Amino acid sequence: MKPFFITTAIDYTNAPPHIGHAYEKILADVLARYQRLRGREVFFLTGVDQHGQKVQQSAEREGIPPQEFADRISGTFLSLWKTLGISYDAWAATTAPLHRESVRAILSDLKERDWLYKATYSGHYSIRQEQFLTDKERGPDGEFGPEWGEVVLLDEENWYFRLSKCSEWLASFLESHPEFVSPGFRHTELSNAATKITGDLCISRPKSRLSWGIEFPFDSNFVTYVWFDALINYISFAGYGSRSEEGAAFRRRWPCDQHVIGKDILIPAHGVYWPCMLHAMGFADEEMPKLLVHGFWSLKGEKVSKSTGNVVDPAALAEIYGPTALRYYLMRDAVMGQDADFSEERLLLRHNTELGNGLGNLVNRTLSMTRRYREGSPNLVPLPADLSAHLEADAVTVKAFIAEMDAAQIHAGIETMVELVNRANALVDSAAPWKLAKDPEQADRLDAVLATLILSARTAATLLQPVAPDAANEILRQIGLPAISLDEETAIGTLPPGYVCGEPKPVFPRLEMQETGAPAA
Ligand code: ME8
Ligand code: MG
Repeated sequence: MKPFFITTAIDYTNAPPHIGHAYEKILADVLARYQRLRGREVFFLTGVDQHGQKVQQSAEREGIPPQEFADRISGTFLSLWKTLGISYDAWAATTAPLHRESVRAILSDLKERDWLYKATYSGHYSIRQEQFLTDKERGPDGEFGPEWGEVVLLDEENWYFRLSKCSEWLASFLESHPEFVSPGFRHTELSNAATKITGDLCISRPKSRLSWGIEFPFDSNFVTYVWFDALINYISFAGYGSRSEEGAAFRRRWPCDQHVIGKDILIPAHGVYWPCMLHAMGFADEEMPKLLVHGFWSLKGEKVSKSTGNVVDPAALAEIYGPTALRYYLMRDAVMGQDADFSEERLLLRHNTELGNGLGNLVNRTLSMTRRYREGSPNLVPLPADLSAHLEADAVTVKAFIAEMDAAQIHAGIETMVELVNRANALVDSAAPWKLAKDPEQADRLDAVLATLILSARTAATLLQPVAPDAANEILRQIGLPAISLDEETAIGTLPPGYVCGEPKPVFPRLEMQETGAPAA
């Protein structure tokens, strides 16, 4: 079977990471860990987008080389991914020689096959957004709004990609491949927008204006424009074009199963430019990647933006509340594809109720009672009907979890885990092991109840593993059992002969509101 190939967008290195970056990385990490849990080989690629005008300008302001600036900011991303436990297999930093050579080879090939040409364009240009503006971008007053920053008139020779040659192909591809973009409403949005995107794509910047980019192999006065450089990361860092072993690895990995991106970069970059670039390079329709488009996080209803100071610092949150609480909250509170509003109160609430009072309490009660009444080792007895039914319900929950996670509905997958935990905690209350322990006639029943609770707690920890791997592994260690295997015929299993549980220790200590310094500028 081909490896499961998952990527995220590569993050701009003009500013340190914010909560949106952390969300996207965790989202992809959870899906990658889920696939590994299913026994699938995974190739998880992520990285940083290091070129472009903003990095060049910021470096100039500080009087340092752009590489130094980009490396410093990249370091803040790398350190956050380490803290948050992002389990990527390959790191795409676009200044890497391997990537540069790949971009240049693709440019040469496209030029040879007449996909590129040079032309002069005159128009209004936004320096902040690094793009030429058309009348569409004018406000009701006929002016370009403040969101564009400084707008200048430019008369410029550039290289163009014949995007217009792909328009018919793209329309028919989108129509016949509804699975290209999920959620489905984003596919509809893209299909409607794609027909309105006309003209060719400018893919260069004159070096006089932008030097911090990849130089054209056949015209040294130009560098590639950010998108043409950035999108190619998805194949260059997966081995595309390489004649060595990596080339063979690429043919095994591609196509990408999940390009995880935010809603702002679907149209036109990933939904139009990217498939058209791949099409021009000779990729067949069956070799197109799939896009998974998530929503945006806001703060108190407002856009997360460096310029307004309205940013949440994920590194500060992870430091204060720990990666488990942060990962759990971001995955739990955002419905795939929808926007969400960040709230520290909800972060604490989710952790303290569902993890602490829910799963943590289940594990703690189960292991404490097993140690108190059975010295950690329940006798292996046949389960009565009500307890067999309990474990069968767990197996149904596991199937539901698999269905949700296969559809990237992580919040719903977590919900199945929460339901399983609630059911197990209800069993503790109704079966009342502390009463059974007083009645010698109920000895078998007590063994069966304890075994059932241990197995349920193990299943819950397994389902939590992609979202909160450290906490889940600690729970499994305390229980003294490995995770269950998540194949289609999932067996909830029985306790192995000689089983002894470990000592319970709080895995989700209660969190109190702290002064995080977030939001911070
Ligand atoms: O767009 N909530 O980089 P980027 C959720 N370098 N996600 C958010 C977000 C928010 N508030 N803000 C941004 C770029 N994102 C390019 C990508 S890919 C070949 C090149 C997401 O640093 C955004 O949608 O601006 C994108 O997927 C990612 O963070 C990086 O954004
Ligand atoms: Mg952006």
